[in-house]
Amino acid sequence: MSRTAGKLGVRLVRSAAELRAVNAPFGRDADRLRATVMTMGALHAGHAALIGTARERVGPDGLVVVTVFVNPLQFGPSEDLDRYPRTLDADLRLAEEAGADVVFAPSVEEVYPGSSGPQVRVAAGPMGERFEGAHRPGHFDGVLTVVAKLLHLTSPDVSLFGQKDAQQLALIRRMVTDLNFPVEILAVPTVRESDGMALSSRNRFLSPAERESALALSRALFAARDAVPGGADAALAAARGVLEGAAQLGPPLIVDYLALIDPADFTELTSRAGSADGSAPKTSEAVLAVAARVGSTRLIDNVPLSLGALR
Ligand code: PAF
Repeated sequence: MSRTAGKLGVRLVRSAAELRAVNAPFGRDADRLRATVMTMGALHAGHAALIGTARERVGPDGLVVVTVFVNPLQFGPSEDLDRYPRTLDADLRLAEEAGADVVFAPSVEEVYPGSSGPQVRVAAGPMGERFEGAHRPGHFDGVLTVVAKLLHLTSPDVSLFGQKDAQQLALIRRMVTDLNFPVEILAVPTVRESDGMALSSRNRFLSPAERESALALSRALFAARDAVPGGADAALAAARGVLEGAAQLGPPLIVDYLALIDPADFTELTSRAGSADGSAPKTSEAVLAVAARVGSTRLIDNVPLSLGALR
C-alpha cells in the first residue's frame, strides 16, 4: 500500500502490483465480493452514488475499489485532456465518505508502459461510431481499452457505471458479453441537481450564464418525457422547442444531436413505434439522448422513454 490518506480509511494505491496484493484476499471464491467503480476523478455526487451502490452490493466485508485515471486514449487531439480537472485529495475524501476501501490512481506510465501507448486496443465497432462516436472519433476504442485493462487489474465481481453515459454503458455491456469478461455490469441512474442539471465533472467549466444555457438539455429531455402521451413526434418536437428557445437567449447552445435511440445497440429509432417499412418496433424501450456544446464545454444527457406509451 502506498499510504493511507490522512485520517481517512481509504487507501491510495498507485501500482498494479500493490493492487494485486490488496485484491488477493477477496473474490467470489473467498466469499468476499469485489466491486470496481471507474472514474476519471473530479468526483461528485454522481460518483458517490456509484460508490454507495457498490458498497451495498458487496456488503461490509467486500472490497470497493475506485479507479481515478484520466485516460489519454479516449481524448481526441482537440479535446480537453490537459484541462480535465485533477483533484485527487478531494477525490480521496469523497471516495472514503461514499464507502470506498481503495482508490487506485495509477500514472499514465503504469497503465500504458512505454512511449508509444498500447499497440493492441479494443475496437468498439460500428456501435462506437454513432452519436458520441461520430463526434469523437476513436473515443470509445480508448474507453473500452482502458475499461478492459482496469477490469483485468481490479478483477471485480461487479463493476458499476452511470446511465448518464448511456452509449458507454451499452458498449461496456457488449464488450463484457462479446469478450466473455467474468463480471456483472450494473447501471446506476443519473444524479441531477435540484434544477434537473445532470452532474458531470465538466459542469465546473461553465460560467453561470453558460450553465443557464446548458440547463436546456435536461429541460428538453423532461419536456419530451412529459409529451410522450402525445406520441414520439410530439416528444421530439417538445425537446427541440426547448433547445431552440435556449439558442435565442444567453450563450449559444450548439446541439450536436438529439435522437431517440435503441439502448441495446445505439441505432436511431424512427420516431413512430414501428419502423419506416411498417414492421413492428425493435424494442419498447428507448433512450432520448442529447449532446451540445456551450462555450468550450461539451455536455451530454439522456432520459429513458417507454415506447410502449407512444402511439
Ligand atoms: O466514464 C468515465 O469516467 C470514463 O469514460 C471511464 C469509464 C472511467 C473510462 O476512462
